[in-house]
Amino acid sequence: MATFDIIILGGGPAGYVCAIRSAQLGLSTAVVEKDKLGGVCVNIGCIPTKALLHSARVASIVAHEARDLGVEVGAVKTDYGVAMKRSRKVAEQNSKGVEFLMKKHKVTVLRGTGMLQPGRKVKVGAEVHEAKKAVVIATGSRVKGIPPIGLDINKTTVISSDEALFLERAPASIAVIGAGAVGCEFADIFNAFGSKVTLIEALPRILPIEDAESSDVVAKSYKKRGIEVIAGAKVTKADVLQDKVILHLEAGGQSRTVEAEKILMAAGRAVNTEGSGFKEAGVQLTDQGWVKVNPKTLETTAAGVYCIGDVAGPPMLAHKGSREGVFVAELIAGHKPHPIRYDNIPSVTYCHPEVASIGLTEEQCKEKKLDYQVGRFPFSANGRARASNETEGFVKIIRDRRYSEILGAHIVCGHASEMIHELAVARENECTVEEVDLAVHAHPTLSEAIAEAALDSMGRVMHI
Ligand code: NAI
Repeated sequence: MATFDIIILGGGPAGYVCAIRSAQLGLSTAVVEKDKLGGVCVNIGCIPTKALLHSARVASIVAHEARDLGVEVGAVKTDYGVAMKRSRKVAEQNSKGVEFLMKKHKVTVLRGTGMLQPGRKVKVGAEVHEAKKAVVIATGSRVKGIPPIGLDINKTTVISSDEALFLERAPASIAVIGAGAVGCEFADIFNAFGSKVTLIEALPRILPIEDAESSDVVAKSYKKRGIEVIAGAKVTKADVLQDKVILHLEAGGQSRTVEAEKILMAAGRAVNTEGSGFKEAGVQLTDQGWVKVNPKTLETTAAGVYCIGDVAGPPMLAHKGSREGVFVAELIAGHKPHPIRYDNIPSVTYCHPEVASIGLTEEQCKEKKLDYQVGRFPFSANGRARASNETEGFVKIIRDRRYSEILGAHIVCGHASEMIHELAVARENECTVEEVDLAVHAHPTLSEAIAEAALDSMGRVMHI
């Protein structure tokens, strides 16, 4: 039996970042991990999908744009297997990177499944370890199917992102169920690798949590590229056959079927709360199934046991989990950490064009009856975007009319994921739209569209 100040259950982006911060603060720290360090994000999530999306973007540029750019490459052949193997290497490099970070910070990695026990104890294999200060739950989430309509993940015809990341070839046809971040990213990938893609979403539009204008641009771009988008669709039944699946849908008051070699389930994730002794140790769950925490401290219903990341509830985002990891480490070390601004966490979908946002959508501003003004700037009017042949999309900034505070900001463009942080920093520091524009933006850059959208929200846009 070993004793640590803090024991963290799970070595994903929430858990391992929490470990680094607690080690920095001088706490003796252990992380329990049954699989590879880095969790879903590094091994079967964010990182390998970004590698595949990069391959997809190159394939798309070479196939559709290169000739106009003065680059003749002949017939284009894509090979998903090669892209997949590269994505595995990238994931492995990142996981090794996390191992290195654990060593560098002298964090003990306990290999195996951790079982929480009453009194801040964690059993790993035959050993019971004790945490003097706290145990932090960071056990994450996993893919889920929809068994009631016959869509159990069977790993052959009905797959999840877990299997899609290891396919040796792109299927001839694939129907993606759910058009959130996972669904939209894989629709983009398989389309670029030559699959016939059907994207099915229950709500009236794809990327339903984003601003409606952002959803529109992506839906149009997908349709142009040959992805069939069926929104407002209810899958009522699935015939899962040996080599294909037939989906029965109700969409727009009509019944129809969609046939595909594979179905990719991307209709949300389930949290990992079972089999780790939570209930027995006094850790209660919410009605929705995630671990119940005090929102101010992230402490669970068991004293001295904290919870962070996906398992603590939405948004299920790596960067939200990492921030919670830093927060609880500082709290446990006796500091007074800055409260987490849950209303200022960027949301990013890395499809092409990328969709990134912060704060409220226009629909939410309407619902809240806020007095707001919208500023927009399309990339078709931005010199750098024209030069780079990336004119799809826009920047939209929603300004509070009275104080000029940024209520929400939405960017759709090839580099939206990198650009949103200017507005995240601005919002974090309560900058006004005037202040965003006052910071001189280099020319020619895509970021000029942010300053222009800020100006437009005050009725004085320059370049349109
Ligand atoms: P999600 O909850 O974001 O999206 C699932 C979509 O499926 C929703 O739009 C929902 O309306 C739809 N849906 C649910 N049931 C359906 C049905 N029966 N038929 C058709 N559509 C249905 O879940 P997703 O995309 O699986 O991602 C899981 C979590 O991981 C999310 O919290 C997401 O934000 C996060 N994630 C984030 C990424 C990023 O930041 N780029 C990438 C991948 C995942």
